[in-house]
Amino acid sequence: MFVNGKDMLYKAKQEGKAIFQFNINNLEWTKAILEECDRLKAPVILGASCSAVSYMGGYNVVVSLVRSLILDLNIQIDVCLHLDHAKSFESCKKAIDAGFSSVMIDLSTKSFEENIKVTKEVLEYAKSRDVLVEAELGVMGSFSSQVITSSSKTNVIDCIKFIEETNVDTLAASVGSIHGPYKGDLNIDYKLIENIALNTSIPLVLHGGSGLSNEVLKKCVKAGITKININSDLQEVWSKSVRDFIRENKEMIDPRKIIESGIDSLKQEINYKMNINK
Ligand code: G3H
Ligand code: ZN
Repeated sequence: MFVNGKDMLYKAKQEGKAIFQFNINNLEWTKAILEECDRLKAPVILGASCSAVSYMGGYNVVVSLVRSLILDLNIQIDVCLHLDHAKSFESCKKAIDAGFSSVMIDLSTKSFEENIKVTKEVLEYAKSRDVLVEAELGVMGSFSSQVITSSSKTNVIDCIKFIEETNVDTLAASVGSIHGPYKGDLNIDYKLIENIALNTSIPLVLHGGSGLSNEVLKKCVKAGITKININSDLQEVWSKSVRDFIRENKEMIDPRKIIESGIDSLKQEINYKMNINK
């Protein structure tokens, strides 16, 4: 069923489990994620970044794609379609108008006041349309071209104030993880997660879930994280398999076979991550 994710997140929060957001890039990824999560009977959030949305053709294409796959593949699990890291009210509005069931307004690099103001505007628009809203506090770094951009963790007081003033549905607080395929000794601040969770009641989101071991992810959930976002790890395993396939099948020209050659690895990675809920 196509849902806004609220029930799955609160159920998981209550049970001390995680809901994964896996980011989508095209038809094949969306299909693979839905098939694997359905096989595992695990509700899922499909994350589409603004750049992925425009790559796929637009908001309406993405909504139709997800809804049609749910129907034609007879997907039984709950599926939420979430706009990831939107930087403006307008982007959120376009996604909501097209039928996304959840949006993230990410003004973490703007002032606290502006973040509150625009988040409230998005919430007002989303509420009557039964769409969930996620916001972000604190700046997350990212790892690209072997360089880590700087990040700054958030603090408990700001989280409490932000939630009180906006009534936002879920919060991504910067707690030490970074975006991108970085594997290393990340400085996840479990104490900070615990403190935010103890002083708030909405589901908390961990961005930059890639590169973190299942042990670390489990500790984050234990500390109070409910939603875990994964993008780069799926890209990494998929592209490695496709590269190997092309190397071994130099004459292959069928795009379906080339794209498909990475799908098993993608499904295995999803399956592996889901183990944290066992
Ligand atoms: O919003 C998406 C995520 O935070 C994914 O981050 O690419 O490090 O897994 P990641
Ligand atoms: Zn993110």
